[in-house]
Amino acid sequence: MEAISSKILLIIFAFGLIIHSIQANERPYQQSNKLFIRNTLFLRNSCRSTTYPRLCYVSLLKHAHFIQTNHMLLTGASLNVTLAAVKSTSALISTLAKSHGLKPREVAAMKDCVEVLSDSLDELRRSINEMSHLRASNFELTISDVQTWVSAALTDQTTCTDGFQEINATGNIKTMVRRIIVQVAQMTSNSLALINKLATSHY
Ligand SMILES: *[C@@H]1O[C@H](CO)[C@@H](O)[C@H](O)[C@H]1NC(C)=O
Ligand SMILES: *[C@@H]1O[C@H](CO)[C@@H](O)[C@H](O)[C@H]1NC(C)=O
Repeated sequence: MEAISSKILLIIFAFGLIIHSIQANERPYQQSNKLFIRNTLFLRNSCRSTTYPRLCYVSLLKHAHFIQTNHMLLTGASLNVTLAAVKSTSALISTLAKSHGLKPREVAAMKDCVEVLSDSLDELRRSINEMSHLRASNFELTISDVQTWVSAALTDQTTCTDGFQEINATGNIKTMVRRIIVQVAQMTSNSLALINKLATSHY
């Protein structure tokens, strides 16, 4: 009997703590709270149409206040974030390629990666540029171009992981390179999903 009531007390106490922490967290947001909830809800729902919804949400959360509930801004922000990720990945692989103790094969595979990632960067830049010229009058043609460029960017990234997979690279570096490339490929795939959604929303 006593054991049960102390358990209940503990639950009530824990519940009080949770409520308190929620209220404490809410205070700084009070003014913009409604907007914040609306924007993050839009982001979460939009990301559901992508293949990697969690990565989509996490990578774009910082831009939620800018995106608001605008699908066009969401798609543009997603392309921007993907471009930045490919850029830093390419720089990281360039640095890793200079590591000591790599076999010539491994260095060659990394240099190949940096090269295809550079193509991928060009394609993403073109997509972002095309997106900025998107109008009702040129919608279908422009979106179709953007779909083509982003698909090409994704293919280039896949070329990099495939090339790296074929060689027997040292465990750690191989795992690391694969992991970061896979992540940017997932971000690119998410951007493509958002573009495809934008394309169908027009009809
Ligand atoms: C994308 O980045 C460009 C350049 O930094 C910026 O001008 C633009 O507002 C960004 N677009 C979106 C939708 O975030
Ligand atoms: C990679 O390693 C495996 C096993 O260690 C070996 O059988 C294979 O021939 C190697 N491949 C290359 C391309 O070096």
